[in-house]
This record gives sequence, C-alpha cells and structure tokens, in this order.
Amino acid sequence: MKTLWQNCHVASMANGAYSIIEDAAIVTEGAHIVWIGPRAEVPDQGDIKTVDLNGAWVTPGLIDCHTHTVFGGNRSGEFEQRLQGVSYAEIAAAGGGIASTVRATRAASEEDLFASAKRRLQQLLKDGVTTVEIKSGYGLDLASERKMLRVARQLGEQLPVTVRNTCLAAHALPPEYKDRADDYIAHICSDMLPALAAENLVDAVDAFCEYLAFSTEQVEQVFITAGQLGLPVKLHAEQLSSMHGSSLAARYQALSADHLEFMTEEDAIAMAASDTVAVLLPGAFYFLRETQLPPMDALRKHGVKIAIATDLNPGTSPGLSLRLMLNMACTLFRMTPEEALAGATIHAAQALGMADTHGSLEAGKVADFVAWNIERPADLAYWLGGDIEKRVVRHGVESTF
Ligand code: NIG
Ligand code: FE
Repeated sequence: MKTLWQNCHVASMANGAYSIIEDAAIVTEGAHIVWIGPRAEVPDQGDIKTVDLNGAWVTPGLIDCHTHTVFGGNRSGEFEQRLQGVSYAEIAAAGGGIASTVRATRAASEEDLFASAKRRLQQLLKDGVTTVEIKSGYGLDLASERKMLRVARQLGEQLPVTVRNTCLAAHALPPEYKDRADDYIAHICSDMLPALAAENLVDAVDAFCEYLAFSTEQVEQVFITAGQLGLPVKLHAEQLSSMHGSSLAARYQALSADHLEFMTEEDAIAMAASDTVAVLLPGAFYFLRETQLPPMDALRKHGVKIAIATDLNPGTSPGLSLRLMLNMACTLFRMTPEEALAGATIHAAQALGMADTHGSLEAGKVADFVAWNIERPADLAYWLGGDIEKRVVRHGVESTF
C-alpha cells in the first residue's frame, strides 16, 4: 500500500543543501520513498492512503552519527571538579575520567545498561533522531565490550531507530594493561575485534588518537585489523592536541574523523582527498570550555563535508538534544543553519557509510523523515532545545512516543 504525505514543504537536503520544495508531496511504499516533488505534479497513484501534514516542514530524520549512549554511572562530580579548575586531563591522570566510567560499566548488568541507555536514547528520538551511532569503549575487555555492543543492538531492535554499532575498544588503556599499551592494542587486534565482528556486533571501528590515549602507530594497527575484517574505520582525532590522526584516518579511507579542534590545513587537504567526513562535536567543545575552534575556513576551502553530532557521553558531552548541537554549531563554530542541518542529515549519513540510503529525501531512499511544526528550516537550529511539535516517520511508518 502506498501513502501520499501532502500539504507540507520539504527541505530534502539532497546534495547537502536545503533543496526546498514548497507545497510538496511525498509518496512512500513500504519503507521507501517512491516519489517526491511539488504536489501539483504527483503522478496518479490509484488507490492510496493520504496523510495531511498541515503545512509542516519536512526534513530527513535526524542522524546522530557520534554517541556513547551506553554507559554505567554518571560523572556530574567531575563536572563540579572541573568548575573548580581541575582539567579533563588532570582528572583522567588521577584515575577519573573514562576510567571511572569503565569501572561503572563493567559493574553494571546488561539489563541496567539497557534501561539507562534507553532513557537517554528516548530523549534523542523525541528530538527527531531516526538513526544513531552508538560506540562501545567503556568496557575495554572482551566481555564488557560485548555487553555494551549487545545493548546497542537491542536498542535498535526495541526502539523506532536505526542503530549503527561502532567498536571503540581502543578508547583508553584498561587498568590491567597499565604501562602495556602495545600489548592491549595487540589484544584488540588478535582477540577482541575478530570475536566481536564474528558475532556481528560491529559495523565500524573507532579509536582515540591522543597523547592521553593511543599513538598514531597504535591506531594504525587497529585500522589494519579493521580492514582485514572488512570493517570501515573512524577516529577521535585532534581533540586535545595535534597528532595528525585525521591525516592517518584519511590514509585509511576513514568514514569520518571526529572532534578536530587542533587539526591543520594539511589534515583538511588529506580528508578532502579521501572524502572523509569531519564530525564536529560542539557539545564537547562547550562542556570542556575549549577555546581552540576547529579550522572552519580550511574545512570549507578544501570542501570537507561537515557533520554535527551530540557525542552523548558522561564525561565531555552529556548532550541529549541534537537540535541543541545544531544551535551550538552555528553560535560556536559559525556554521549556517543550512550547513548545520546538512551536518545532522546527509553528511551524518555519509559519516556512517549510509548516504546511499539515508540522510536526504529522494526517490529510492528510506522513508525516514520528520514533519516539524516550524515556520522555516532555520528554526531547527534557532530554538535552544525544547520540544518542537512534530510527526516522526521511520521506514514509512509514523512513530509514536
Ligand atoms: O568523545 N574523546 C574521547 N571520548 C569521549 C569522551 C569520553 C569520556 O570522557 O568519557 C569524547 O569526548
Ligand atoms: Fe566521542
């Protein structure tokens, strides 16, 4: 059965721009869009169900392409410490930071992790997200990484959202490998990644390339293993310092390099050549009170595609609204609302390797879209959070919340 969605305006985001269609109509069949264009030109569809969208603005379903939604515990105590002047790196060096979330995640049952992650994910969904990436990386041993990735898979099965799993075993050094980072990387490559991939728990592989995490040489070992397993790679790069991890990511045709405040123009040139998406995370920039801006001019000059994500995590970005991140991308990173929306739709889809099927509203693509009760597309980046009245359609079916 086909459905005709009409009485709406569309920002299709095809080619990374609003690509506005006024007084539009969308025809869906099953989970896909079969026609989209001006309402006056809809081809005769015969018997069809019709839905009146009351003049709403329709965009692709939002895609949050970088999150750490599954974790145990909470780090608001560290937030208070940082407000007293202790730095993120100092907290990490003292055994807090990622290590404290690792302790809480290892101690949590799969059921508890699912319940807390579900509550957070529901906040994102209420904000118009229809696809989300979820990373592991707070387990750091095979059983705990498996537990996190299984929870992420279950979230995708039980909630109206498409979940992409990323294995971030190379996020930090677990305590049992203290002073043995090379050994931990070898364990990831020989044991963890092959086992988790064989269980179909991994869609992409990520690492944290930073002086307080892993070197480019160590990350490269992880990338080589991912390639042997047929998995695409991504990288947390240049968040706190410049190590040219983003250039390394580009050499391995990474889907994305993420954070990037300290990247150089040479890194941008390398990323443009490999069409690696720059995923910017204004929530982490804001929450860490970072002052070094990502090099927006270089990214634009060399045509690097830019995505925006929440980086939802307990340490650096407890962000539960992707629309709020669009606003921060505009105010903090000087992006336009149109660039920001492309960053949470078509460019985010590319950062997950899904741009052929998701991220824009075009015939043949998956029918994931949101009909927003707003006056202009820029309103999505204008309001500071809040709950905008909306209807969310995923796989051609309206979601209820
Ligand atoms: O994306 N940069 C590394 N990983 C996370 C932070 C993790 C944490 O502090 O728990 C990030 O910012
Ligand atoms: Fe992150």
